[in-house]
Amino acid sequence: MDMLLNPLDRRHRLRHDIPVVPGAFPLVGHLPAIACDLPRLLRRAERTLGSYFWLDFGPAGHLMTCMDPDAFALLRHKDVSSALIEEIAPELFRGTLVAQDGGAHRRARDAIRGAFLPKGLNEAGIGDLFAPIIGARVQAWRDRGEVTILRETGELMLKLIFSLMGIPAHDLPAWHRKYRQLLLLIVAPPVDLPGLPLRRGRAARDWIDAQLRQFVRDARAHAARSGLISDMVSAFDRSDDALCDDVLVANIRLLLLGGHDTTASTMAWMVIELARQPLLWEALVEEAQRVGAVPTRHADLAQCPLAESLFRETLRVHPPTTILPRRALQELQLGRWRIPAGTDLCIPLLHFSTSALLHEAPDQFRLARWLQRSEPIRPIEMLQFGTGPHVCIGYHLVWLELVQFSIALALTMRKAGVRPRLLSGVEKGQRYYPTAHPSMTIRIGFS
Ligand code: HEM
Repeated sequence: MDMLLNPLDRRHRLRHDIPVVPGAFPLVGHLPAIACDLPRLLRRAERTLGSYFWLDFGPAGHLMTCMDPDAFALLRHKDVSSALIEEIAPELFRGTLVAQDGGAHRRARDAIRGAFLPKGLNEAGIGDLFAPIIGARVQAWRDRGEVTILRETGELMLKLIFSLMGIPAHDLPAWHRKYRQLLLLIVAPPVDLPGLPLRRGRAARDWIDAQLRQFVRDARAHAARSGLISDMVSAFDRSDDALCDDVLVANIRLLLLGGHDTTASTMAWMVIELARQPLLWEALVEEAQRVGAVPTRHADLAQCPLAESLFRETLRVHPPTTILPRRALQELQLGRWRIPAGTDLCIPLLHFSTSALLHEAPDQFRLARWLQRSEPIRPIEMLQFGTGPHVCIGYHLVWLELVQFSIALALTMRKAGVRPRLLSGVEKGQRYYPTAHPSMTIRIGFS
């Protein structure tokens, strides 16, 4: 951790009476520590400075971080805005619904939301579409005997999300590469030179947008075609203040982005947890054999409580979205602090997800906390998806695809008499920002 902080920045500074975490570097601030070791950075700051402190997100400026779980409710507060998301990465989020507030946000969200609810997913037969794609990929892993897991789950997720959208999936490795480069736009210092993150991120965005523009043109030309893109194009074209193609393309890019990295990371962590916990693997195999086939409808997911718990606990321990940025539009009272209007805020989902205030033995991977419950899931227990007006659109989709994935994995490997095994260490190479994921190099064997 110490190597990720600037040893020359030891001053104790206050902004609006709240301490600034020492150790920021010029230009990039605390980003190295945020990206590589956010959990320890947060724990250390809380221990030494208390529950409220400023983190320096480099080009994005200082964000006041609130470690008190009450801060989760800020995501539902009417005087808290998402516009900061666009300011942090204008090249990536300009015109997208995740960075909008109020009516503009609602209109864009309503055009997409229905397709992602269980009814929309069932009507479009998404479970039937996904099952063979997941089955083929898992079988290929079995045949190869070992895989670099995050690269594989990344490509599988792209394939799933493309098929959901009705986009022909050519050249998935290139898309996968472009997506990783696109994420650079969230952390890129504002220096536009060849080879630097800003230039590479922009090139990736332009490549992706050019392809999406073509898909939109195709969808208009073949109005009868099915798939989410066609639905979105007609919903956007039908809306009163018909949104321009730039906005449409930006929102499709947002869906691909939102649905890709987050889910690929969770899927990879599921395999890693199954590889390091043989008893968990045995329990999953037992459930998969009892169920007998990969479920395809939301209603069938109730037959797979263990797979569902695996999905929830993996997300709890390894949340892919670690922080959410917001801006206070009016003065806010937070605990004993008055937060002036205009303050930029960091809501640390990662911290809440693994907090002892919300979970017993939070560091332990325990399916029992989900399996042995009788009451419904509360918003705070799915905080990995946010809450309030911007709560994740993809929640039901992720639930379906991750349960499908774990049942397919168990059935395929069981049939071949093998199980997943870790072939490399897990501790090094994890990332926590812009999205979190396990090390890119972790290899899993099936033997
Ligand atoms: C494990 C997987 C996922 C996680 C952990 C996750 C997490 C989140 C979180 C925390 C937010 C709230 C953002 C905010 O409040 O600023 C969000 C929003 C969103 N997610 Fe997801 N997401 C996942 C998968 C997906 C998938 C599969 C899709 C779609 C294909 C998707 C599409 C979106 C969209 C469009 C938004 C913006 C909603 C809005 O602003 O109204 N996500 N997601």
